Amino acid sequence: MPSDLFDAARAAMARAYAPYSKFPVGAALRTEDGRVFTGANIEVASYPEGWCAETTALGHYVMGGGGRITEIAVVAEKMDRITPCGGCRQRLAEFTQADTLLHLCDQNGIVETVTMGEMLPHGFAGDTLK
Ligand code: THU
Repeated sequence: MPSDLFDAARAAMARAYAPYSKFPVGAALRTEDGRVFTGANIEVASYPEGWCAETTALGHYVMGGGGRITEIAVVAEKMDRITPCGGCRQRLAEFTQADTLLHLCDQNGIVETVTMGEMLPHGFAGDTLK
């Protein structure tokens, strides 16, 4: 992966609003035409109302017009090789394919690259709902 996607995720992490957990997270998605959408976690005093970095990035991606996502990078300030939470795996799966790359990062770059299919095997698929 060109390191710009990691750099974008890390820059997004710097914008996290995480005064309660003090656990900043950043995410970046790249589409096949080269656009990059980023996000950070945003917390709320009523704790369950906050949301994750991946979800912010997906919101930017949808509002930016969507497109085929080719790779995703996720980074957390206080955890090496962070993996997306269960809810975010399902949200990411909504807009990706089983072979979409997911880069798990530490402060310096990628630690491990997996596919979305590996990250969310047997996820709920909405095809029959459409
Ligand atoms: N968090 C994310 O942003 N992404 C994840 O995949 C896991 C957790 C955030 C949510 C919360 O603001 C903080 O990390 C601690 O759970």
